[in-house]
This record gives sequence, structure tokens and C-alpha cells, in this order.
Amino acid sequence: MKFNIAVLAGDGIGPEVMEQAQKVSEAVAQKFGHEITWKPALTGAAAIDAVGEPYPDSTHQVCLASDAVLFGAIGLPRFDNDPSAKVRPENGLLQMRKQLGLFANLRPTFTFPSLLDKSPLKKERIEGTDLVFLRELTGGIYFGEKGRRDGGETAFDNCVYTRMEVQRLAKKGFELAMTRSNRLCCVDKANVMETSRLWRETVQAMEKDYPEVTVSYELVDAVAMRLVQWPNTYDVLITENLFGDILTDEASVISGSMGLMPSASMGSDIALFEPIHGSYPQATGLNIANPMAMVLSAAMMFEIAFNLPEEGKVIRDAVNKALAEGIVTEDLADGGKAYGTKEVGDWLAANI
Ligand code: IPM
Ligand code: MN
Repeated sequence: MKFNIAVLAGDGIGPEVMEQAQKVSEAVAQKFGHEITWKPALTGAAAIDAVGEPYPDSTHQVCLASDAVLFGAIGLPRFDNDPSAKVRPENGLLQMRKQLGLFANLRPTFTFPSLLDKSPLKKERIEGTDLVFLRELTGGIYFGEKGRRDGGETAFDNCVYTRMEVQRLAKKGFELAMTRSNRLCCVDKANVMETSRLWRETVQAMEKDYPEVTVSYELVDAVAMRLVQWPNTYDVLITENLFGDILTDEASVISGSMGLMPSASMGSDIALFEPIHGSYPQATGLNIANPMAMVLSAAMMFEIAFNLPEEGKVIRDAVNKALAEGIVTEDLADGGKAYGTKEVGDWLAANI
């Protein structure tokens, strides 16, 4: 098969980890007889510096014309430390999600047998964890009206959801649950928030259409607690944008390193794949960043965007083998030999 893949490497370690994901994807393409055409495009601080905006229309056009988007990371400290900055790399990310209609963000958390001791949580608590968050990505407080009043002394961010937005996300949640253990957890704050009551009411009304699926409704604060207490009791969790942002960072520590977790963002058409870690600016150019989350994002791309599970599995197997054999970057080296970003990428490609 032939694919056009948009490459939005972004800032910080984005370009370095992206290079490894491309290398690994090329190895897979060669093995299975596919042909990939890479379409690089600017985003984030790199795009602000080049053309003055973080998600230029030229980049949007490249994404629209591609079969999938691989996204590295965006953000640089010079923007974080300036609350008055008018254009921020993060705006580009939000704009991109909105313009590409990527309303469903799939963030899996799983453990690697060889890394059970790396997690800050006790091994017996995390063993067997294999859960997936489906985070709503284009609504809620991220996109509601925001501003200042009273001469700047009062600030507000509105949280807004429509029934349709909840339904389309929940539909993906029910469908995903049916491919797994038929358990779905709806995470909300229905004891306090009106948007959460709309979520709960909407999901409850959909239950009859999915009789195989057992739905539980849990409050977000309780989930935050149980997630680190008994993570292996969860399977598919659906939630709104901000709750999902926070809980998925929390969940990522279960696996032992943020540098390991991939994600997929989907809508009705194009899908985007990115690691859940950020741009890690301190590590830029040092060849120390863990490329595995980016590489596993490419695995998700083969599985979800191209419907090629075998190709995805080959990548996952190579990553598991690297972890088991200690071909890892310094975040996982634990005093042992640390390999460079590039060397890990080379090893993975060679083993595919
Ligand atoms: C994420 C990030 C973004 C978010 C930021 C960079 C805007 O934290 O993808 O989780 O909050 O959604
Ligand atoms: Mn986040």
C-alpha cells in the first residue's frame, strides 16, 4: 500500500524522536512492501519563528492531504515563562485539534513486564494494568469562552458541552469497550458540574444501545485516587477534556516512564498520532530522549489509521524486545548502559 504521512515534528525533542519513528516506519514499510511518502510541515514554536503562527494554513493543508499525521511535541520555555505572550505554541495544538476535528483522544496505559520495577507504584498494584482513556479533545473548558473582567481582576474559563459532543465521544467509548472487556467507566463530576450531569445523562441514555457493555459512573476525584490504588481494575474510561488531560498524565506514571506512552487522536476522518510526553526542551539535541512513545505512536498509526495490525505488532514486539534486552535511553537505564535516542531507533529498525 501507499501512504502519505504528514510529519509535524514540532519543538524540543520532537524532531529527534520523530526521526526514530520514521526510521522504524520505513523498516516496517520495507518488510511488508508498503511505500511511504513523508510530508514535513511546520508547527509549534518552530512555526511561530518561521511564519508567525503555530499552526499555519499551509500545515493544515498538508494534514488534510495526508492519510495520517505523526506529531512530535510542541512548546518552549520562552513562551511558558511569558504569560503575556500573544501567540503560543499550545494554541497551535488546540487549533489543529479543532480544525482537523480530532474529538477523541485515545491514551492507553499498559505495563511492560520488564519494567514493573521502574514504576513508582508497587509492582503488585500495577501488574496486569491495561487501560485506555478516551479523552474528549475539542470541547469543554479548553474551548469555552474565556477572558477577564473587572479591569483584569477577575478571570473566567467557561466549560461548555453539547449533547452531540458527548454522544460522539461516548459512542467511540462503547465501541472500544466491546473490543475489550465490555466495561466502560464514565468519569465526571456530576455531583457539582452541570456539564457533567449532561455527560452522565447522555451516556445513561446510550446504555440500551449497547446491552453487552456494563457502564460504571465514577467521580473524577475518586478516579484520581483509584487510578494509583488499583489501576488494573479499570479498562475503558471516557471523560471530558480537562479531566482527561490530568488523569492521563497521572496514569502515565504507572508504566514507569512518560517516554513510553503513545496516543491517537481521531475524528470522523483523519487521525493523528503523538507521544503523550511534551517537548522536554532541556534535552533538545542531546540524543538522550526516549523515542519509544513516538515509535509506539507510529505503531498505533499502522493499526488504527491504516488498519494494519500485523505492522503495528512488529513495532510493539521490537520495543518489548529492546526493553527486555536493556536497549534503552537514560530514563530507563537505571545505572546500566544508556543508549542514545538515535541508537535505540537504529536498534528497533534493525530488529524489524
Ligand atoms: C496534552 C497537553 C496539551 C493539553 C497542552 C500542551 C495544550 O498537555 O496534549 O495533554 O493540555 O491538551
Ligand atoms: Mn496534558
